[in-house]
Amino acid sequence: MLTTPKLKTLQELIAGATKEELIWLSGYLAGVVAQTTGQPAITTNVLVTAPEPEAAAKPVVSKITIAYGTETGNSKKLATDFAARAKKKGINAKLVGLEQYRLTDLSKEEYFFTVISTQGDGEPPASARKFYDHIHKESLQLTQLKYSVLALGDTSYPLFCKAGEDVDEQLQRMGGQRIVSLQKCDTDYEVEAGGWFDQILQKLVSSTAPALSAPGVVVRKSTGKKIHAGTVISNINLNDIGSGKQTHHLEIAAEVEYQPGDSIGITPENPREIVEAIISLTGIDPTRKMTYREEELSVADLLRRKLNIVFLPERVVKKYAAIVRQDIPETRIGLLDLLKIYPVKDITQFQEVISILEPTAPRLYSISSSPEAHGGEVHITVAKDTFVVNGETKHGLCSDVLSQLSPDQTLEFYVHKNSQFKLPDHDKDVIMIGPGTGIAPFRSFLAERDATGAGGRNWLFFGDQHFTTDFLYQTEIQNWIQTGVLTKINTAFSRDQQDKVYVQHKMHKQAAELYAWLEAGAYVYLCGAKEPMSVDVENALLTIIQQQGKKNAAQAEGYLDELKEAGRYVKDVY
Ligand SMILES: Cc1cc2nc3c(=O)[nH]c(=O)nc-3n(C[C@H](O)[C@H](O)[C@H](O)COP(=O)(O)OP(=O)(O)OC[C@H]3O[C@@H](n4cnc5c(N)ncnc54)[C@H](O)[C@@H]3O)c2cc1C
Ligand SMILES: Cc1cc2nc3c(=O)[nH]c(=O)nc-3n(C[C@H](O)[C@H](O)[C@H](O)COP(=O)(O)O)c2cc1C
Repeated sequence: MLTTPKLKTLQELIAGATKEELIWLSGYLAGVVAQTTGQPAITTNVLVTAPEPEAAAKPVVSKITIAYGTETGNSKKLATDFAARAKKKGINAKLVGLEQYRLTDLSKEEYFFTVISTQGDGEPPASARKFYDHIHKESLQLTQLKYSVLALGDTSYPLFCKAGEDVDEQLQRMGGQRIVSLQKCDTDYEVEAGGWFDQILQKLVSSTAPALSAPGVVVRKSTGKKIHAGTVISNINLNDIGSGKQTHHLEIAAEVEYQPGDSIGITPENPREIVEAIISLTGIDPTRKMTYREEELSVADLLRRKLNIVFLPERVVKKYAAIVRQDIPETRIGLLDLLKIYPVKDITQFQEVISILEPTAPRLYSISSSPEAHGGEVHITVAKDTFVVNGETKHGLCSDVLSQLSPDQTLEFYVHKNSQFKLPDHDKDVIMIGPGTGIAPFRSFLAERDATGAGGRNWLFFGDQHFTTDFLYQTEIQNWIQTGVLTKINTAFSRDQQDKVYVQHKMHKQAAELYAWLEAGAYVYLCGAKEPMSVDVENALLTIIQQQGKKNAAQAEGYLDELKEAGRYVKDVY
């Protein structure tokens, strides 16, 4: 498209540029395209920040609110960047987490921007739950509200950016005026986020900014996540004979960058026998190519590697019922059982069924190794998920696959960063509460603090069913006690006595000292089962703060909120 001399100049410029300069240049060009055409640019994958306009125009809007809902820190980081850029333009930008946001303020807002991720199966992050429920339940009149939503998500999950979509729709339903279209972002969100910032700032600084036509979405193929292939070094069951549980410690050889507190994501393959049974039942040619979400794959590959076939959500069962034109109760069920009970008419109908199936969602596992202590390796701690359906014992898909991996087998995974769940400075004290597999990141924390000689004190609360069979990483933990890395440990083995004893009971017993650590600036980390464990532990913390700090309930909540705000109380629960 360029003439030879122009192309030569461009090539010279690129050849002499650093990576950062290339990123800036890419952003600059995207900005130029947007400004000259009034349309967002079609970009490639490297833009981080778009350039500031040369002459700063006086903003026509002086005050905005930027509210974020985050689980692992990405939305907070983007919202913070956005606030900084708005401030540079002379706009008074109030930055607030949706957890702290005063819901009664919403009807008074004029310019309100939300950056929100999606968690679970299309749900808002826990920290945004109150806000999300509020806008869905209350009949609010938001007639003066001008807003826009930046939605973070991951296209490998079935309901991409669903929470952001819901917030966007709901604010409009309540009378809000959307000033820039909803922007959905995949895991490489920098380009879209940068474009969204630009569009909004353009609107805020100039009343003559061109009206941006909906939907205004940047067209760009996502780079996806960086997938690593690791080799299993060992896989051992940490529970002893006689335990009711199986918790696997996997060591994987892989050169990857991560920090204590990060997880790995794994997308499990479906059991071969189920795939074969589906193929033989429907008579479909397994080598037949089909296009699924812009990717061409054989039917066999789709069924084995891509699609959720083992336990379909109700929404998919509903679509299946519409295809086969049968009345099917609203329930979760496997595809094979569906095909047996409510057969498809022919292969064409089965192809239609394939097109309504959702991708298999990745499963996350907290990394239990430390980059300093276990170089070139990634360790995880996996509880084999066991449950009974109609009297038959079954296992969760991914934990079952992982529990059966043998040394030398290959495992594909990506690193899921968590910028919130991070160790503090070396001299700070940490209190770690992690029963069951909640211990995983704390093994990483302790190994890291041991290897780096961090001086802060470390206190661990651990619990499981029985001391003799379920004390995960007991030998290492005892070593850390002996060497002084672990300053204090309290364990709760729930089934070793008549009455159930859990970590929260042990916390109550240590109330005075726990509060003293908090007052001395300790950081509190909580990991493991969301329900009921994390709820009970948080309630215990509140009671301890109330009683030891001689506060009322509201003051205790305020105290815990301050800890959260300061990054001194963080959870990674599931
Ligand atoms: C941030 C984060 C960190 C995590 N860290 C860890 C960790 O360190 N260690 C760890 O072990 N886990 C961890 N998890 C949980 C993990 O990601 C998985 O959710 C867990 O291993 C279960 O996945 P699965 O594929 O084995 O089970 P799934 O197949 O997803 O099944 C989950 C549940 O669905 C139901 N179900 C599934 N199939 C059927 C069926 N056919 N019929 C009826 N019911 C069914 C059952 O209730 C079952 O328990 C973490 C999760 C998150 C979000
Ligand atoms: C357990 C879990 C479930 C998720 N579920 C979804 C989902 O249903 N839809 C989606 O688009 N993204 C989903 N994601 C991806 C996150 O939205 C994405 O990683 C995002 O960048 C996180 O931003 P945050 O750090 O601000 O929370 C999920 C992530 C995790 C860890």
